[in-house]
Amino acid sequence: MRKQIAAANWKMNCTYAEGEKLLSEVLDAQVALKDHQLAVFAVPFPYLIMANSAVSDSPNYFISAQNCSNKKSGAYTGEVSAVMLDSIGIRYCVIGHSERREYFMEDNAMLAEKLNLCLANKITPIFCCGEALNIREDGTQNSFVEQQLSESLFHLTPEEINKVVIAYEPIWAIGTGKTASSAQAQEMHAHLRSVLAAKYGNNTAEGISILYGGSVKAANAVELFSCPDVDGGLVGGASLNASEFIQIIEALK
Ligand code: PGA
Repeated sequence: MRKQIAAANWKMNCTYAEGEKLLSEVLDAQVALKDHQLAVFAVPFPYLIMANSAVSDSPNYFISAQNCSNKKSGAYTGEVSAVMLDSIGIRYCVIGHSERREYFMEDNAMLAEKLNLCLANKITPIFCCGEALNIREDGTQNSFVEQQLSESLFHLTPEEINKVVIAYEPIWAIGTGKTASSAQAQEMHAHLRSVLAAKYGNNTAEGISILYGGSVKAANAVELFSCPDVDGGLVGGASLNASEFIQIIEALK
C-alpha cells in the first residue's frame, strides 16, 4: 500500500521555542496513524536534533530537513550535507522546493545531485515539482512537470525511485490561498503517475507517493486527500498552526 503523508514545511518560520511548542502541541494530540500513514515535519536546520528527539516515541512521526547540499563535503561554507543529516538520524529531506529553485537558482541537474546524495545516505527525498502561473495559463503544465521529473529523477533505478516521495506544488497555489481544485490536483497527479509508469512500469509507479502542496488547510485537506492519486500533502502556512495541522493529519484517514 502506498504511503500517505502529511508533511509540514515550516520554511523560515518559528523561533526555537515556538517550534518546540508547535511540535509538542501536534504530538500531544496523538493522532493515531495506520502503518502506511506518516506525519513529517520539515523544520529549520538548527531545530533538527530537538525535533528528532521530540518524535522519537511517536511511531510514524518523522523529521525532515528542508534542503541539503549538492556537494558531498568540503569547502562550501554555510552548506549542510546529506552525510551530516544522516549522522544525526534525519531520514527525510525536501528537495527542489520552488522557493529554492527560484531564489537560490537550483536547477534540475543540481537537484539530481542532491537526490543521489540523499539516497546514498538513506534519506528519503521529498522531491518538489510544479509549474508557475504563466505555464498553467499556456496549458503546457504537463510537459513542464514531466521535464522536471525526467531531468532530476529518471537516472534513478526502479529500486531507487521507489524510495522517492514526489510533491506536486503548483507555484500559483503556494502561499496564495489559491488551492488547485481537487480535480486539477487529481489530473496532474494521474499524469505524473502515468509518466512514472511509462518510464518504470505500472507496479513501480503505483507504489510512489505523490503529495499535493499549495494552500492545503484543514478545510480542504479531506477533499484533496480523497483523490485516488493524491497521497497526502506538503503544507506550508497551515502547518504553523497546531490545530490546523492536527486536522490535516487526521484528514489522511
Ligand atoms: P503553503 O506552502 O501551504 O503555504 O501554500 C506549501 C509549500 O510551499 O510547501
